[in-house]
Amino acid sequence: MQPRFSDRTCWDTTETELARELADRRLQRQPIIDLTASNPTHCGFNYDEAALLAALQHPDSLQYDPDPRGIRSAREAVARYYAERRADVSADQLLLTTSTSEAYSFLFRLLCNAGDEVLIAQPSYPLFDFLAQLEDVRLVPYHLFYDHGWQTDIASLREQITPRTRAIAVVHPNNPTGHFTSDAERHELEQICAEHGLALIVDEVFLDYPMPGHSGSSFATGDHPALTFVLSGLSKIAALPQMKAAWIAGFGPGLEEAMARLEIVADTFLSMNAPIQNALPAWLANCGDLQRQIRDRVAGNLGILDQTLARQEMVSRLDVEAGWYAVLRVPALQHGEDLASRLLRDEGVSIHPGYFFGFPGDGWVVCSLLAEPTDLAPGIAAICRVFSAV
Ligand SMILES: Cc1ncc(COP(=O)(O)O)c(C=O)c1O
Repeated sequence: MQPRFSDRTCWDTTETELARELADRRLQRQPIIDLTASNPTHCGFNYDEAALLAALQHPDSLQYDPDPRGIRSAREAVARYYAERRADVSADQLLLTTSTSEAYSFLFRLLCNAGDEVLIAQPSYPLFDFLAQLEDVRLVPYHLFYDHGWQTDIASLREQITPRTRAIAVVHPNNPTGHFTSDAERHELEQICAEHGLALIVDEVFLDYPMPGHSGSSFATGDHPALTFVLSGLSKIAALPQMKAAWIAGFGPGLEEAMARLEIVADTFLSMNAPIQNALPAWLANCGDLQRQIRDRVAGNLGILDQTLARQEMVSRLDVEAGWYAVLRVPALQHGEDLASRLLRDEGVSIHPGYFFGFPGDGWVVCSLLAEPTDLAPGIAAICRVFSAV
């Protein structure tokens, strides 16, 4: 008898043509201009290495005194992070997790039975599919559309609500569209959640990266007519994805019971380790310099992108308010995967095609603004060159 596996892990792991071409190119040491860069530790930023490592030397880390919600001093540091953003959050409203992904998984377990539904914006970040599948949750997309900036199609969202819907998830600002949820949209989403007894899950990992001239406030501020969970973590805020520290901040009706239940979910794993929790206050207090470096890089790259696009007419970019990415509109001549393969083969440029994030149809390219400017400039020029020949 062969061993049998769960249906939820029955994934198609065949390598795509594009992944194979990328791997071959790397193997043959051919140059790659990487416009998919999303790992800040590989993008040439100046980390204060001594201070980061010194924070790991806390003597309390030699004791095992687990708190399922996370060590109080670490939660108090997160509460201070929100106080600096004009949000009143107490340590009791916070629960630490090893990543935002783990935070989603805890919330899906808290809120959903197998087969229950969570509404999720499209286009958005693709990891949710796996997270939901692992928790036996069904993701139901609601649409964002672009009309003088990105808007939430509230009417279509309302139509997607069924008796199995348990939550609405919002990424604020969204990845990769880089738009903030407006105050009016926030109000509508909160009313819908309150009306239908749904939870609102708000992922704010890119909140601290507005583009010059833009700003957005945290869903941790203001009133909370519905049960609301705000998620964030060090992977983007402090540009430390390797440290594995994130959190859930809870608000609104039903919070006490939600936190008590979440505490048991977290207690079952106790996945946070002591050195990281003890280092978190220092890392969070000192993340300003790195955030500045990233905001400068992203804004500078956006300037380079615009200068290059201004010299031609085939490629344009959509408005971007925040985050680390820009969305380009290109002639929809080829399926996204074929376009990405062609750019890699002919120009050595690696991009994410829009379908990867659930953009409708072809003709979308997502371009990282985190890349080194020396990569970004020739990469964008190459994309424009390919389309100018059309
Ligand atoms: C919108 C969004 N949420 C969550 C994550 C994952 O964050 P973490 O590293 O904390 O799991 C990402 C990663 O890119 C993201 O883009």
